[in-house]
Amino acid sequence: MDQLVIAGGRPLAGEVEVSGAKNAALPILCVSLLTSQTVVFNNVPELRDVGTLLRLVRSMGVAVERKPNRVTLNSETLGEPVAPYDLVKTMRASILVLGPLLARFGHARVSLPGGCAIGERPVDLHIKGLQAMGARIEIEHGYIVGEVGRLKGARIFMDTVTVTGTENLMMAAVLAEGTTVLENAAREPEVVDLGECLISMGARIKGHGTDVITIEGVQFLHGTEYTVMPDRIETGTFLVAAAATGGNVRLVGVRSDTLDAVLDKLIEANAFIECTADQIRIRMRGPNHGVSLRTAPYPAFPTDMQAQFMAMNAVAQGTTVVTETIFENRFMHVQELRRLGANIEVEGNAAIIRGVEKLEGATVMATDLRASASLVIAGLIAHGETVVDRIYHLDRGYEKIEQKLSQLGAGIVRRSVEEV
Ligand code: EPZ
Repeated sequence: MDQLVIAGGRPLAGEVEVSGAKNAALPILCVSLLTSQTVVFNNVPELRDVGTLLRLVRSMGVAVERKPNRVTLNSETLGEPVAPYDLVKTMRASILVLGPLLARFGHARVSLPGGCAIGERPVDLHIKGLQAMGARIEIEHGYIVGEVGRLKGARIFMDTVTVTGTENLMMAAVLAEGTTVLENAAREPEVVDLGECLISMGARIKGHGTDVITIEGVQFLHGTEYTVMPDRIETGTFLVAAAATGGNVRLVGVRSDTLDAVLDKLIEANAFIECTADQIRIRMRGPNHGVSLRTAPYPAFPTDMQAQFMAMNAVAQGTTVVTETIFENRFMHVQELRRLGANIEVEGNAAIIRGVEKLEGATVMATDLRASASLVIAGLIAHGETVVDRIYHLDRGYEKIEQKLSQLGAGIVRRSVEEV
């Protein structure tokens, strides 16, 4: 298992390029199942989760050619539309093959994703929406088994905003007979990116990016070449690392219009930020004031940035409150931050952070993707050496993170340790 060894206390400085968005690439790779023609995707990040999804579609018979940041797929000769438990359990986003398989082939067998560290994360809204479109769905031995002749358009209200639920139903609807309206749809930029990719294949979609998405089904979709959007959460993570270390950093290849809530909170914490369409520069105006925040669906503050801000708040002046409203257990990083000297109390879904003078390096354990990012930021701030263990979590969602941080002057190296 790998570890990251961090020599803290150095302000980050310089310029780094942001990678393609994991949470846009994952649904976009699944559109390969919706056409018998070849699809080519650029700016696909080199991540564990991307590798898992490509293994999954390959196991179904999709032809996959993977080059650095570019993937070519063709599902003309698809075999068994089955997503097995041993792959789905390592990545919940595997559920995103369900909608496309039912839309193109009329049958699918997808393992129910297990729970995960941050919460129960049911998929009932995915299933309810597909049933509304005429799919017969049974749960058999831990698998979702779906059958349908041809999906039919329907008006579907999702009573919780769900990102992959919206994406799954969009991909199901593009080949359905008639029109589908998704109400209370997720508005995340990654949903918009998926919509634009589907439109480039001949899909008829309106309203993506708003809470009402209308999809007029077509008979078939043609191939495409599409470039995945930049990762807004990686962008936010590097911005927080720069602010927390009192650094001065420019990020390039970003989409600065996808981060308003994050930029506002950084400015409130006393950062100075300059933006162009594809670059963001950040430095601190003075002391880190920290900032209270409350997570909510886009365009509000993203839950995927909560842990990172908590690390910055740990050494801020004064007391701040971080409230998590999306997932029921997304404070796994708190006990690890405490090991570094942070003063954090948790009351229900709120964490009260009393800023301390400094953090002291220690060995800490990553538990989930964004908690790992929080621990790396804390290690960059702490005095002395911090070892972050189990960083396979980090490798799921951050491409070349130690190379990028080293490029910004951080003292950080990856170390492999034999599993005991
Ligand atoms: C997506 O997960 C992201 N993953 C998550 O990013 C992100 O944290 C989350 O959206 C929220 O923004 C991908 O896009 C691959 P949800 P998703 O369905 O779609 C409840 C990361 O770190 N819900 O929007 O699985 C659910 O329990 C990951 O990159 C139902 O009740 O999240 C949660 O409370 C972590 N029934 C809320 O909705 C359902 O059928 C939002 O979940 C579906 C969801």
